[in-house]
Order: sequence, then structure tokens, then C-alpha cells
Amino acid sequence: MTEFFRQQVLGCTSCELSKTRKHVIFGEGNPNADILIIGEAPGRDEDLMGRPFVGASGQLLDKILDACNFTRQKHVFISNVVKCRPPGNRVPSAEEVARCIPWLYEQIKRIDPKIMILLGATSLLYMAGAGYKITRDHGQWFNCMGRQTMAVYHPAALLRNPNLKRDTWTDFKNIVVKYREVSDPQHLCQYI
Ligand code: URA
Ligand code: URA
Ligand code: SF4
Repeated sequence: MTEFFRQQVLGCTSCELSKTRKHVIFGEGNPNADILIIGEAPGRDEDLMGRPFVGASGQLLDKILDACNFTRQKHVFISNVVKCRPPGNRVPSAEEVARCIPWLYEQIKRIDPKIMILLGATSLLYMAGAGYKITRDHGQWFNCMGRQTMAVYHPAALLRNPNLKRDTWTDFKNIVVKYREVSDPQHLCQYI
């Protein structure tokens, strides 16, 4: 991911969200990571900070990654389907996604991850299609753009409904198993 590409995204005005945003959230992590995590869209905290997943959802995501012994620095890159905050944290419209998702496709091409983790229903809808349902299909591996891909509940859903945490932890254990298979057989994790 070149600085030129990053600056192209940071200057994007392709949809209406450019008028209300403070920052474009490009994403962050290892640009050569084997795991790409794809969220929905930045929220208020992210828009203020210019970084993905720094609010309450992000703190929970970091706890989950930590339990897997994954770091933002080394193991993952974190991005979103839409890169500017929808006002009031509403779900991005299909039109906004259509304008923005080519940036994500370009990131996928450049990062070339082996594993993609789709966080929540919006990411699953736009990456996998309307035939998938998060409640039924979370935790299942499927092929998306040539990568081993799994949807998991969005951290915001876990905060609203803590009962979903058990399933999510099972799903992340399977992600660690897959990571050992396709990336690093020596990956250490005290739980798995
Ligand atoms: N929720 C998301 O889907 N993405 C973020 O970057 C932050 C919260
Ligand atoms: N440990 C858990 O018990 N649940 C999670 O979601 C992550 C780590
Ligand atoms: Fe561009 Fe995406 Fe921001 Fe819309 S949401 S202005 S398409 S970067």
C-alpha cells in the first residue's frame, strides 16, 4: 500500500459522507498482514481520531485479538466497508457502499491476506451477498475473493448482547487454528 494510494483514499469525495466526516479512516495494521479484519463503517470516536475501532467496540476487539495473541502491529490489518462515518452511526446506504467498496477491494489486492474476518451483518452482506445470515453463518469458512473468510458477530453486537460472546470466542479459536495452518504453525496462544 503506497503513500500515493493512501492519499487518494484520504482525499476521496465520491459520496455524501465526505461532507460530514472529520477524517477518512483508511485503516491500520500491518499492510502485509495475513489477516484482514473488515468492519462496517467508522463511528464517532473513529471519526474524531482518524483510526479504526478506537471506541467501545474497538476496545472489545482489542481484547479478543489479545486473547488470540494477535496484534494490530503484526498480525492484522483493520479496515471497513465504508471509510467515512455515517451521521448518527446509521448503517451506510447501499449507494455509499457502492461508492466506497472499491477502496476496500484495492486494499485486499494490495495486502493480499490469506484470511478475512467479516465483522457483523453489514460486512457479511456486502462481501458475501444476501444469501448469508450472520446468526446462521458466523463461524463458517467460505471462499471470498480467493481468501479463507469467516464472519463473526460485530463487537457492538457483543456489547449489546453479551450472550453472543461465547460463540464469538469459539469462532476466534477456529481463526487461530486456521492461522496456524495457513500462516504460522508456531503461533503461540495460551488458550488454544
Ligand atoms: N465499528 C465499525 O464497524 N468500524 C469501526 O471502525 C468502528 C466501529
Ligand atoms: N475470551 C472470551 O472469553 N471471549 C472473547 O470473546 C474473547 C476472549
Ligand atoms: Fe469516499 Fe468512501 Fe468516504 Fe464516501 S465513504 S467519501 S466513497 S472514502
